[in-house]
Amino acid sequence: MKAKNMTRPFIKFLRDVYEDRPVIGAEVGVLHGVNAEYILRTLNIERLYLVDNDVKRAKFLKEEHGEKVILLNGWSPGIASKVTEPLDFVYIDAIHEYEPVLEDCRGWYPKLKRDGFLGGHDYFDRFPGLMRGVQEFASEVGKTIMSGVWDWWLVTEEQSIRYSSQ
Ligand SMILES: C[S@@+](CC[C@H](N)C(=O)[O-])C[C@H]1O[C@@H](n2cnc3c(N)ncnc32)[C@H](O)[C@@H]1O
Repeated sequence: MKAKNMTRPFIKFLRDVYEDRPVIGAEVGVLHGVNAEYILRTLNIERLYLVDNDVKRAKFLKEEHGEKVILLNGWSPGIASKVTEPLDFVYIDAIHEYEPVLEDCRGWYPKLKRDGFLGGHDYFDRFPGLMRGVQEFASEVGKTIMSGVWDWWLVTEEQSIRYSSQ
C-alpha cells in the first residue's frame, strides 16, 4: 500500500489523544476525499467540515455519511467564517506555499477549541514555503511542531514531551 493511502500521522495522533470520544473537525483541501475517508474511518467523527474550492469531487462522502459531513464549497481561509462551532482539529492541505499556508493557519486556528489541534500535510523539503509558513505560525502562537511522514501538527511544549516519548 502506498504511503498516501494510509492513515496519516496527524490523524493517528488525534486518535491517540481523543480515543473514542466524538470529535468535530475540518479538512481544508479535500480533492477526491481520500484523506477525508481515512479521517472518517479512524476517528469517532461527530461532524467533519470538508472545505474545497471544488468540493463536489468529495460528495460521495456526504452521501455515505449524511449529516456527519458538511461540504463547504469555496475559498480558504475566507470560508472559515461559515464554521460557527468550535473544532477539535483542523487539517490543512490546500495551497502548499508560504503565504497561503500562513493565511490558512491564521484563518483556521481561531476556529479551534482551546485544546484543539491544528495540523496539515506535506511538511517536507519539497515545499520549503509551506514549511516556513508553518514554522512562522508556530512561533506566532508559541507552539511546537510535531511531524511525521509527511504531516505536521502543533502542540504545547508539555504535549511535545509527553507525546514524543510514547
Ligand atoms: C493536495 S489537494 C488535497 C488532498 C486531500 N487532502 C487528500 O489528501 O486526499 C489540495 C486541494 O485543495 C484545494 N484548494 C487549494 N487551494 C484552496 C483554497 N484556497 N481554498 C479551498 N480549496 C483549495 C484544491 O482544489 C485541491 O482539491
